[in-house]
Amino acid sequence: MLMQAYNLMAHAFLLFLLFSYIISTHIHACKQTERSSLLSFASTLSSSPLNWTSIDCCHWKGITCDQDGWVTHLLLPSKGLKGGISPSALANLTHLTHLNLSHNSLYGSLETQFFLSLNQLEILDLSYNRLSGELPLSLPSSSIRTVDLSSNHFFGAIPSSFFQQASNLTSFNVNNNTFKGYVPSSICLHYSPSLRLLDFSSNLFNGHLAPGLGKCSELKVFRASHNNLSGLLPEDIYNATKLEEIALPFNSLHGAISDKIVNLTNLAILDLSFNNFVGELPLNLGKLSKLKFVTLDFNNLAGALPPSLMNCTNLVELRLGSNNLEGDISMLDFSRLSQLTKLDLRANNFTGTIPVSLYSCRSLKAIRLAKNHLEGQIQAEILSLKSLSFLSLGGNRFTNLTWAVKILMSFKSLHTLSLAGSYEGEVMPSDDDMVDFDGFQNLRLLNLAGSNLNGQIPLWLSKLKNLELLELGFNQITGPIPSWLGTLPRLFYINLSNNRISGEFPKTLCRLPRLLYGPNIASQADQYEFELPIYGRSSSIIATQTFPTHILDFFAATILLSKNNIVGDIPTEIGQLQLLQELDLDSNNFSGIIPDQISNLKNLEVLNLSMNLLSGIIPSSLASLNFLKEFNVSYNNLEGSIPTGTQLQSFEASAFEGNPKLCGAPLLNKCEPNKGIDANNKNNKDVHNGLHQLPWFYIFAAFGFIVGFWGVCGSLVINKTWRYAYFRFIDNL
Ligand SMILES: *[C@@H]1O[C@H](CO)[C@@H](O)[C@H](O)[C@H]1NC(C)=O
Ligand SMILES: *[C@@H]1O[C@H](CO)[C@@H](O)[C@H](O)[C@H]1NC(C)=O
Ligand SMILES: *[C@@H]1O[C@H](CO)[C@@H](O)[C@H](O)[C@H]1NC(C)=O
Ligand SMILES: *[C@@H]1O[C@H](CO)[C@@H](O)[C@H](O)[C@H]1NC(C)=O
Ligand SMILES: *[C@@H]1O[C@H](CO)[C@@H](O)[C@H](O)[C@H]1NC(C)=O
Ligand SMILES: *[C@@H]1O[C@H](CO)[C@@H](O)[C@H](O)[C@H]1NC(C)=O
Ligand SMILES: *[C@@H]1O[C@H](CO)[C@@H](O)[C@H](O)[C@H]1NC(C)=O
Ligand SMILES: *[C@@H]1O[C@H](CO)[C@@H](O)[C@H](O)[C@H]1NC(C)=O
Ligand SMILES: *[C@@H]1O[C@H](CO)[C@@H](O)[C@H](O)[C@H]1NC(C)=O
Ligand SMILES: *[C@@H]1O[C@H](CO)[C@@H](O)[C@H](O)[C@H]1NC(C)=O
Ligand SMILES: *[C@@H]1O[C@H](CO)[C@@H](O)[C@H](O)[C@H]1NC(C)=O
Ligand SMILES: *[C@@H]1O[C@H](CO)[C@@H](O)[C@H](O)[C@H]1NC(C)=O
Repeated sequence: MLMQAYNLMAHAFLLFLLFSYIISTHIHACKQTERSSLLSFASTLSSSPLNWTSIDCCHWKGITCDQDGWVTHLLLPSKGLKGGISPSALANLTHLTHLNLSHNSLYGSLETQFFLSLNQLEILDLSYNRLSGELPLSLPSSSIRTVDLSSNHFFGAIPSSFFQQASNLTSFNVNNNTFKGYVPSSICLHYSPSLRLLDFSSNLFNGHLAPGLGKCSELKVFRASHNNLSGLLPEDIYNATKLEEIALPFNSLHGAISDKIVNLTNLAILDLSFNNFVGELPLNLGKLSKLKFVTLDFNNLAGALPPSLMNCTNLVELRLGSNNLEGDISMLDFSRLSQLTKLDLRANNFTGTIPVSLYSCRSLKAIRLAKNHLEGQIQAEILSLKSLSFLSLGGNRFTNLTWAVKILMSFKSLHTLSLAGSYEGEVMPSDDDMVDFDGFQNLRLLNLAGSNLNGQIPLWLSKLKNLELLELGFNQITGPIPSWLGTLPRLFYINLSNNRISGEFPKTLCRLPRLLYGPNIASQADQYEFELPIYGRSSSIIATQTFPTHILDFFAATILLSKNNIVGDIPTEIGQLQLLQELDLDSNNFSGIIPDQISNLKNLEVLNLSMNLLSGIIPSSLASLNFLKEFNVSYNNLEGSIPTGTQLQSFEASAFEGNPKLCGAPLLNKCEPNKGIDANNKNNKDVHNGLHQLPWFYIFAAFGFIVGFWGVCGSLVINKTWRYAYFRFIDNL
């Protein structure tokens, strides 16, 4: 009995202990002031999915308190918060150590008060919001370690006093804002010696980089790309020996890359592309054995590649295009670069043959050696590069195209092949055995332009079921356009211009599956991205933008047959190619009328029929082509009046000239009352009779622009701003 009572008491005591433990862990209930500060923060949000209703704010989503009930963590990243941020409410949370509101839609600015009271803050992440305004004069406290304000709309200069107290700062990121003035590169000199990451990219910083980074003895990452920095790289940057990444592309830095760079033995990423660096590459660059990504394109670097580079066995990407580098690359031994996936030596002055040792870099996915002075033949050993998907060798002096194509056909991985302008005056490869070979199974883009190749369009092309872009312009190709061309299931871009092609426009080409309206074989999902960026010609754009690598960002749905000897009618069936965007038939011998059906090509942006033998009228239905930006029917035998009251009249007179019997604006010769208006223009009667012409013209033009710009057309949705900024790239492959 006694024993039982004792037992019971012991149990009760244990239970009591358990209870008090549970209570004590709950005891740091939220302080009322903290609760009201949080509610005041939440109240300024216009849309808040927060369910902050219970009494104890320490248990609210995103909140952590300390033992005494002070809020220490406010972590609400990617919570769909919208609305103005209330700096004063947050500033009342004086014990806050972690504040993470990244990836929301908060706006407003950080008032000075915000930081003054948050003197325990360690982590501040406000990235990916819409915050704006200038920075407060100073960061809060010596405890601050991480500041991420990237991807907001902050502006102004970074105040010189900003880092004054931040002696423990390790990471500072203001990427993608509109800050201006100097990059505070002396930050380690005076304030924050333990910085590991500095990211000033994509702002409007300008001027020179002042010395000081050399004192950042812990610095691993330094980024300031896409700014307007000028001057030399400060020498003392080579004292920051822990640096693993230097990324300064898209600036105006100049001078040579110093030999002292070999002191940065931890360097893995060196990106100085799109600057004005000159001189030779440091001879001992290869001592940087950890180098992985070397990107120095678009500078003025000269001299030969240092052989030591071939000792960088960790290299993943080596991109040195568009410099003045030279020397015989066949002498280089690539055989140790087993990690190399991308090699870009485009547009330099390299000589020699393709180094055989390159064929042992089994990780290679992309090789671009275009626009150099290379010669010789492609070796069959290239087939050991099983992952190669992008090969661009154009603009060299290689020989034996038939041999090259026969080898390359075996590549299963190859997506993009450009040999343009490399095999001058040879014959189009067309051996019989190539047809049954079933090669180039995955080829999407084939560029054999600009080589004055003789022969006909070869039959083996008909087997390329994945071909999307075919570029054969500027050759001496004869014979007709083969009718099977219209059966290639994915083809949407054909350029046969500047050849000697004869015969008629094959009707089968009007059934090109990819250009027909309706369900489409090539879904957005399996779209192909180029392994290397393709550059446009406009240097001003080059200097300010990053590049899309998507195939459809570059190429419109196009049929280009200009400057050939094609005869006969433009088939009426052409109206089936509803997704076509560019049709150039100029400088051929097309005769007959302009078929009314062209007006079915609702996505057409360019229509060039000039310099043919076309007769009859200009169908007024063409005025319904709202996307049309370029239009040319000059130098034919067209007659009658240019359809009035339509956007066709917005084109210049030169688009119509050379047709003596054509009349009306924008041409100067007026139509004679009875002669000019023919059957076709009767449907425009209302325009003639009732409405004033000019407003209609403006309405059409404006509509065309708006629809053309924002319109979504079938499955070939093309980012028009890019494509028009980057016209004609294919020769920059
Ligand atoms: C909000 O919180 C209360 C109490 O914590 C809970 O009962 C309720 O289900 C929550 N509502 C939503 C929508 O999560
Ligand atoms: C912050 O605290 C002060 C003093 O307690 C108070 O007057 C003020 O209203 C609070 N601000 C907010 C936005 O909660
Ligand atoms: C903020 O939260 C996001 C999402 O959890 C996280 O990825 C990010 O690293 C956090 N920021 C900091 C500075 O820890
Ligand atoms: C700064 O960092 C050091 C080392 O981590 C630490 O001992 C010190 O307390 C920190 N200073 C502040 C004010 O947090
Ligand atoms: C730049 O910041 C804006 C605003 O937060 C954001 O919408 C955009 O995605 C950011 N751009 C990049 C490249 O991160
Ligand atoms: C870049 O800086 C140069 C002077 O170094 C200046 O002339 C130019 O206007 C600046 N460009 C921009 C876009 O700020
Ligand atoms: C780099 O560091 C060395 C030794 O610490 C020092 O003597 C030299 O002055 C520094 N160089 C620069 C450019 O700051
Ligand atoms: C490079 O390193 C050497 C030895 O490690 C040192 O003497 C020299 O000062 C360093 N130079 C620079 C510019 O840091
Ligand atoms: C490459 O490294 C080896 C050994 O690490 C060395 O003997 C050789 O001189 C280096 N080659 C070059 C060109 O630096
Ligand atoms: C190649 O070298 C020649 C002179 O040897 C020079 O005129 C030319 O500009 C160089 N081309 C490139 C792309 O550097
Ligand atoms: C092309 O190369 C192959 C193999 O080396 C050779 O047999 C053939 O004769 C060459 N053709 C020409 C035209 O040089
Ligand atoms: C088509 O090929 C010709 C000749 O190679 C070239 O001049 C033209 O730029 C190409 N058109 C497009 C749209 O790339």
